[in-house]
Amino acid sequence: MKMDDVPKTMALANWSVTRDRDNLAWLVFDRADATTNTLSQAALAELRTVLDQLASDPPNGLVIRSGKANGFIAGADVDEFGEIDDPEVARALVRRGSDTFEQLAHASFPTLALIRGFCLGGGLELALACRYRVVVDEPSTRLGLPEVMLGIVPGWGGIRRLPRLIGGPAALDMLLTGKTVDARKAKRLGLADECVPARIMDNAARGVLLARPAPRRLPFPLSLTLLPVSRRFIARQARKQVARRARREHYPAPYAIIELWERFDGDALAAPAGDPASLAALLATPTARNLIRVFHLQERLKALGKTEGPAVSRVHVVGGGTMGGDIAAWCALRGLTVTLQDQNAERLAPAVKRAARLFGDRLRDPRRIRDAMDRLIPDVRGDGIAHADLVIEAIFENTEAKRKLFAEVEARAPHDTILATNTSSIPLEEIASALRDPRRLIGLHFFNPVARMMLVEVVAGRDSDPAVLARGAAFVRAIDKLPLPVKSAPGFLVNRVLAPYLMTAMRCVDEGIAPEAIDEAAVAFGMPMGPIELADTVGLDICLAVGRMLGGEHQAPRKLVEHVEAGRLGKKTGRGFYTWTNGRPQKQAPVGVPPGLSRRLVDPLVAEAQAALAEGIVADADLADAGAIFGAGFAPFRGGPLQYARAAHDAVESAERVV
Ligand code: NAI
Repeated sequence: MKMDDVPKTMALANWSVTRDRDNLAWLVFDRADATTNTLSQAALAELRTVLDQLASDPPNGLVIRSGKANGFIAGADVDEFGEIDDPEVARALVRRGSDTFEQLAHASFPTLALIRGFCLGGGLELALACRYRVVVDEPSTRLGLPEVMLGIVPGWGGIRRLPRLIGGPAALDMLLTGKTVDARKAKRLGLADECVPARIMDNAARGVLLARPAPRRLPFPLSLTLLPVSRRFIARQARKQVARRARREHYPAPYAIIELWERFDGDALAAPAGDPASLAALLATPTARNLIRVFHLQERLKALGKTEGPAVSRVHVVGGGTMGGDIAAWCALRGLTVTLQDQNAERLAPAVKRAARLFGDRLRDPRRIRDAMDRLIPDVRGDGIAHADLVIEAIFENTEAKRKLFAEVEARAPHDTILATNTSSIPLEEIASALRDPRRLIGLHFFNPVARMMLVEVVAGRDSDPAVLARGAAFVRAIDKLPLPVKSAPGFLVNRVLAPYLMTAMRCVDEGIAPEAIDEAAVAFGMPMGPIELADTVGLDICLAVGRMLGGEHQAPRKLVEHVEAGRLGKKTGRGFYTWTNGRPQKQAPVGVPPGLSRRLVDPLVAEAQAALAEGIVADADLADAGAIFGAGFAPFRGGPLQYARAAHDAVESAERVV
């Protein structure tokens, strides 16, 4: 669409306004000095200026769109609010945003958000304040309010406006899980008025503004969900659901969101100080600060996977067992072409079956499922090696077998193919010495279950070439996982910090403490799953092997050895410390948790993280925390073991000062 050459009316750093010949104003957000649009205080202040000026010379309509190719608006600026710990400062920030969006919502002319790519948090709240929303039908278009994942609440009108647009239950689902919806779902829910292909998006926006249809009204049955009596009911149900996943003392934000909607019509400023739903109450715990820290840690890991150099598009996986099969399936799901090799076709069949289930769950659309199946190629003879950008080995944990295999792979692979092993315990150097060029070998250590675990340790052996490691990290990022660079040493980082925690827990069982009480102590600390249940889930044979590798002179826990010798390996055999039915451990209610048990379990993990850092297994404390959170499930709201140790140390110091 051609714009008339109307000069910009105001000098702004982050926004630009033009008017077309229909007197529609096109407001483009293109944040200065940043690759992603976030609503900084400066950007918000400019938006107010724009709205004031438009009010004095009203256009026939206003389109708000992004000037960045990567998306619409990612939210408020996390760097700005991450540091806030004064409730008054937080209130002022919330007030500024919500006043601005209120001004937008009451504009005398129709307003429209034209959304392509991500539209998150404050970005969606801005869109919600517009009269209309047009979304572009592309996989990258995602709309959501992920504030809850940062331990905060959407304060700029989201909790009020979203339920009015899509009804209480669907809105609470989005608000409480932080999950995003794609363009088509946004249209189905009523969050978007139009869902259109990119090539007609400008015209679609114009069309809506010129036609000025009546703003969407909530269908009658859904409008009933907003009545006070329904709100009370829906809120009660939502609280129960949240309680199953998160305790209020650990994660206050979802509870605050429910109450803000139920009692204050979503106005985050209306809850008085002292109310558990108030901003002051949210800031009283370190949860928000720590979750924002976790967000930054995640961004840091993502950045470690950014690198120049040729991308991996063909992967060859050797070993189609538990790990290799699932690694291959995951790579195919993420769009790579994968050849999967095992000793014979029968051994590959279960992996292909699991892959079909994964694609079915994740892709739904039959055409996309078929394409993914086509990308996963059984390859008993290993023909794929000759074309692979990356070979991942996941055969039995046996040094000789791996050395032999890599010598063969090296002879058949192109000279710049990355060679990677998924070994958990064999020193990289012992495998690499079988290669003519040992610099090519790195470790890519995935975790089980591959589809659920975000972290992959990128292991540097003594000889690994830094450029190959960087390409390995980029591959991990390309399949949407988080790369953690670690040095080759027993247990790398994650198993090393997990082992003493799991072994301590199992020694407690040997002492006669009920597994249920041990798990409860860990969950009360904030772990998503107790250590005994985790050990059963991982497999007791694997726990014993890792425990022996890392345990040194310590004896393996007695009960653990007994279970393994009797073939009771945990979840996979239906019995371990617990009996498992339908994939769930059968637990008795714990009779009581011995005092101090949480600390007894967690302290060895913290100490091991400190030791691993001191030995240079990871480059710095943040990476150790990131590994423990994303790989070992360490309580995210505590910010990681080292952050937790620092906070505990500071608390003791300040208590001593008071005394
Ligand atoms: P698995 O026993 O389930 O699978 C191994 C597969 O490799 C079998 O299907 C076997 O037929 C195949 N195989 C053996 N020698 C072969 C050869 N020369 N050529 C082609 N295929 C061959 O083992 P799993 O659990 O998948 O472990 C594989 C590797 O991953 C090991 O190095 C293990 O330490 C590591 N690992 C295992 C984890 C787990 O939780 N199971 C977690 C992280 C790493």
